[in-house]
Amino acid sequence: MTASSQKRKRVLSGMRPTGKLHLGNYVGALQNWVGMQDQYECYFCVVDWHALTTDYADTSQIKENSLEVAFDWLAAGLDPEKSVIFMQSHVPAHAELHLLLSMITPLGWLERVPTYKEQRENIKDKDLGTYGFLGYPVLQAADILIYKADVVPVGEDQAAHIELTREITRRFNGFYGAKKPVFPEPQTLLTPAAKLPGTDGRKMSKSYGNTIMMADPEPVVRQKLKTMVTDPARVRRSDPGNPDVCPVGDLHKIFSSKETMAKVNDGCRTAGIGCIECKSWAADALVQLLSPMQERRRKFEENPKLAWDILEAGTQRARKTAVETMDDVRASMGMSLKYEAPGK
Ligand code: TRP
Ligand code: SF4
Repeated sequence: MTASSQKRKRVLSGMRPTGKLHLGNYVGALQNWVGMQDQYECYFCVVDWHALTTDYADTSQIKENSLEVAFDWLAAGLDPEKSVIFMQSHVPAHAELHLLLSMITPLGWLERVPTYKEQRENIKDKDLGTYGFLGYPVLQAADILIYKADVVPVGEDQAAHIELTREITRRFNGFYGAKKPVFPEPQTLLTPAAKLPGTDGRKMSKSYGNTIMMADPEPVVRQKLKTMVTDPARVRRSDPGNPDVCPVGDLHKIFSSKETMAKVNDGCRTAGIGCIECKSWAADALVQLLSPMQERRRKFEENPKLAWDILEAGTQRARKTAVETMDDVRASMGMSLKYEAPGK
């Protein structure tokens, strides 16, 4: 068998529908996904049920936010011809498998998940003492296993969830996969963690209000860069600075060309350039990255049904794979609907 005729490995990843995405979401996940589409058979899921684990009391934004996420995915270059792009809540088999996995997942495993403890402590304005919130990683495991995914590209913050998925996989295969493992153990593919600062120098995050959005038009990008914090050592134009301790320097490292980076390095350290000039170069790089995406986005904003149709078609494809997996799952558990004479 030649390499190209071998079955491509399957990828699954998901994102919560938080609304419009920012540059941190792009470099932290989406950019990586876009690059995987040719090498892998990819499934990308808007995990709207996961939104309910924290936002169950107010569901009014979920659908709109899902559509916004889809716009940004398509704008960034996720391609429905290559990848299956779909909505979790319309593939009921995720819930079926979640139920079965919940039966075999020890409570202690869930209580130990770091994000569980952290969020219970940090999020005080919602009651997270729910069954669904504790079970969040079990639903995530179902998302992955229902497609028998080999590889799960995620950021560092999700690594513990994928590890738990692997433990659940081993337990499931141990109980029901004696003849043949039902699920492959999914591998974590860590997204190279680019340190993307927001405009205030802290990690870019919706909750800090320091984001640059993928859909921000050029004047907004330029304005946000103007007010971005810099190396505090550069008080005056004549003070030298250090791009390694400057959030704008971090943006250059991620988005600018080698040539620009060299000019920044040299100019900043010798006070040969001013921060205003330096920031305008960073803005140039961002605008250059974002404008083709925004061009693609426009088509979907003008006609949102186009994006919705893509999600719908993807969801149909996902359902087909998921139903096949459930057939295997039922068979492995001796619970298929096929009649078998008693005692056989
Ligand atoms: N928990 C993930 C996050 O918050 C989202 C997610 C849900 C996911 N299901 C998944 C990621 C399956 C990868 C695979 O980012
Ligand atoms: Fe930061 Fe650029 Fe100013 Fe140096 S010149 S401190 S890298 S903004």
